[in-house]
Amino acid sequence: MEKEVVLSGIRPTGFLHLGNYFGAMRNYVRMQDDYTCYFFVANWHSLTTHPDTRQLQESVHRVIAENVACGLDPDKVALYIQSDVPEIAELYLYLNMLAYKGELEKTVTFKEKVRLQPDNVNAGLLTYPVLQAADILIHRAVKVPVGKDQEQHLEMARNFAERFNYRYGDVFPLPYAFNYHSELVRIMSLDGNGKMSKSENQMATLYLADDDDSIRKKIMKAKTDAGPAMPNAEKPDYIQNLFTMMHLVSAQSTIQKFEDDFNASSAGNVVIRYGDMKKQLAEDMANFIKPIREKAADIQADTTRLSRIIRQGAEKARANADATLQLVRKTMNMNY
Ligand code: ADP
Ligand code: TRP
Repeated sequence: MEKEVVLSGIRPTGFLHLGNYFGAMRNYVRMQDDYTCYFFVANWHSLTTHPDTRQLQESVHRVIAENVACGLDPDKVALYIQSDVPEIAELYLYLNMLAYKGELEKTVTFKEKVRLQPDNVNAGLLTYPVLQAADILIHRAVKVPVGKDQEQHLEMARNFAERFNYRYGDVFPLPYAFNYHSELVRIMSLDGNGKMSKSENQMATLYLADDDDSIRKKIMKAKTDAGPAMPNAEKPDYIQNLFTMMHLVSAQSTIQKFEDDFNASSAGNVVIRYGDMKKQLAEDMANFIKPIREKAADIQADTTRLSRIIRQGAEKARANADATLQLVRKTMNMNY
């Protein structure tokens, strides 16, 4: 049986962090044996919000290097850069004729960007979901591992695909957002303010490129409080976040000890020592991130290897994209 096609993209707008790893990249790595996978760096998309391209090349290289360091195998998956596949741009053009101004203006992410950058409401921002649909449909992907905030974009991709199929003929299967776990892992910012993210407070974000000392410093500064008021209390979200991270990187016995200490604590009898817990978490986290950081740095410094990975990814992606585009042109009577 043919494997299902999986596709996802990451915008190269900053350093990748622990949330990206556990919320996205770890899932990509798990999928590479069971599906035909396309993973790419969405550098065209980043131009909608980051028009300055001076840092872009380095960011793109880092995202590729970090993905490989996290376990993506360029021999198993197509790992490529969006702008290396011009077929996407042609499909974007066709899909733009099937996308309506009204629906694009109603998109939640568009409205948010208009609020954030009122002086740069460019057409690329408006048609962002059309380009994303082209990314997905060019490979006729059906499973798209993304976070909750992307579900509306997926719904729009299905609408554009259906309109194309109805108007010109059946070319595209309908793509859906995909998660491995019923409960998605979500890492909060270490200061307790919202999710850990690329552009948030850097001291509250653990980057895959952070050195051991920065990791220690950031975790030791993470928000805690005076301890639970009663035994078996519900954990405040910033404390839960420390436990969530511990569950991801520490030994079972370590986690159990701190869970037990937490549950045995009450006002006036606080058994759990958050200082000790953070110290332990910092060590385990540093040990977890170190090999990823070192491997990514090695790959990024090895320009021959990096360009081989990039070329290999582009070739795989273009071969498949071209097959779809030929079919699209034929179906639209555009094959002269
Ligand atoms: P950021 O908010 O850092 O810019 P993106 O929005 O580019 O990250 O998300 C890239 C991927 O990483 C998405 O699949 C998203 O769901 C995942 N992700 C981002 N932040 C977190 C987080 N704090 N916890 C879990 N997953 C996250
Ligand atoms: N919009 C996605 C994000 O902000 C990135 C992205 C671009 C993407 N094209 C895609 C994700 C195609 C999945 C499929 O995270």
